[in-house]
Amino acid sequence: MRPIWITLSAVVLSLSFSARAFEQEKHPPGPHRHPEAQKLKNPIPSDEASIAEGRKSYVRYCASCHGPAGKGDGSMALAGGTPANLTDETWDQGSSDGEIFVVIRDGTSSDMEAYKDRLTDKQIWQLVNYIRSIGPKSER
Ligand code: HEC
Repeated sequence: MRPIWITLSAVVLSLSFSARAFEQEKHPPGPHRHPEAQKLKNPIPSDEASIAEGRKSYVRYCASCHGPAGKGDGSMALAGGTPANLTDETWDQGSSDGEIFVVIRDGTSSDMEAYKDRLTDKQIWQLVNYIRSIGPKSER
């Protein structure tokens, strides 16, 4: 007979897999808005200094996929998903500062990872300001 721990770990494993599948079900890909995130206010003024700081983080963490000018044409772009063009009119994940903030903080997929362990909130808001400075001037 198999030791009980093998059976138990098999059960635990399969449970955690179905939990993952469920997580992904809850967040289907595609255009959607995030009402909670929309309410977040950008506390960092969009001035030259914050845009310059945001640009530094962008070059370091984002340009490899989103491209040097944010057009989604970075050299790592073929690694998996298609990096979003950050300069076009389309914001699949929502276009307010708060929504862009949450996308960067929490991530959306295995390609677009969460950056909350690598960037402070302040740095993420600075990134939002930078992305805005190169993108369409849509709602805030
Ligand atoms: C490994 C590649 C990769 C890296 C690195 C990466 N992204 Fe992404 N990003 C993606 C992909 C792929 C998508 C589109 C998939 C999705 O929406 O889930 C995306 C989507 C986005 C979106 C949503 C755009 C929209 O239209 O709604 C934003 C904003 C964004 N990324 C910002 C950033 C920022 C800022 C960084 C750096 C901190 C970054 N990304 C780093 C791959 C990447």
